[in-house]
Amino acid sequence: MNWRAQLENYLHPHRARVDEALDQYLSGNPPMPRVVCEAMRYATLGAGKRLRPILCIAAAEALGGKAEQVLPTACALELIHAFSLVHDDLPAMDNDHLRRGQPTVWVKYGEAMAILAGDALFAKAFELIAEQARFSSPERVVQTLRLIAESSGVRGMCGGQVEDILNEGQVVSEATLRFIHAHKTGALIRASVLAGAILTGADEPRQTALDAYSRALGLAFQITDDILDETASTEQIGKPAGSDRARRKATYAALFGVETARAHAQQALQDALSALQAFDERADPLRWLAHYAVEREK
Ligand code: IPE
Ligand code: IPE
Ligand code: MG
Ligand code: MG
Ligand code: MG
Repeated sequence: MNWRAQLENYLHPHRARVDEALDQYLSGNPPMPRVVCEAMRYATLGAGKRLRPILCIAAAEALGGKAEQVLPTACALELIHAFSLVHDDLPAMDNDHLRRGQPTVWVKYGEAMAILAGDALFAKAFELIAEQARFSSPERVVQTLRLIAESSGVRGMCGGQVEDILNEGQVVSEATLRFIHAHKTGALIRASVLAGAILTGADEPRQTALDAYSRALGLAFQITDDILDETASTEQIGKPAGSDRARRKATYAALFGVETARAHAQQALQDALSALQAFDERADPLRWLAHYAVEREK
């Protein structure tokens, strides 16, 4: 079997498990305002790839852990991702109308509800990390909490989004572009892998290797996102193709052209794979996911 077929077999049950848990975590209690609950579910439960929770699970499994034991944190990571997409699409940010093949949250529910649903998703994520204490020691949960908070904030995703916005229409250096990608996208992907590792009690050398793997993976993933924005159709990616060019975003495709951008993504893939050299076959899903990051079609 090639990596694609093996990955499909791997993804199918894991996505189902994650989706079921997300559905439960987001089933609203009566005191919650209905419209924002609806918007939170709409933002989260659509046709996403669930890459971040699956990376968290795959990292845990690579170290001998079990999916169920990291599920609250895996879901928390998807909620933070969903929140970031809701805010990323807002008129003041990327001003996009389509996400996962559906109208964006602000188009469907209005800007105020989109901002508030994003806030609520972010807060809910930390509630789920607290839930993780059912399966893991307080020390590990606190370490994970700090990692995820840092990776979401100014030193992570939020900081990257700030630079992404500030550099619209600018001529950027490769260093600035790497900074943007490592933070707006890379930080949460890294946190997903390392959270799975920390919660499974990875030793220092394993954490260092997974750190290198996840940094390379995050870069490969965002370069591919840039390439798809330039080369794929709106139908294929479920979000408006050509949005980056229209907003004169700093992307790998814009800075280097699509062919060179592909070469950078391939290099990052090789870096991700070599970081896993010391791992046995239990890390194969992480290897397939690295291929998928660059060879995906949406
Ligand atoms: C889109 O992420 C935003 C980026 C960080 C590039 P994904 O491509 O993982 O989006 P979904 O979750 O599958 O919709
Ligand atoms: C988004 O980058 C990164 C985050 C949402 C944090 P993009 O703006 O390129 O993501 P898409 O292309 O809209 O999914
Ligand atoms: Mg953006
Ligand atoms: Mg965007
Ligand atoms: Mg993009």
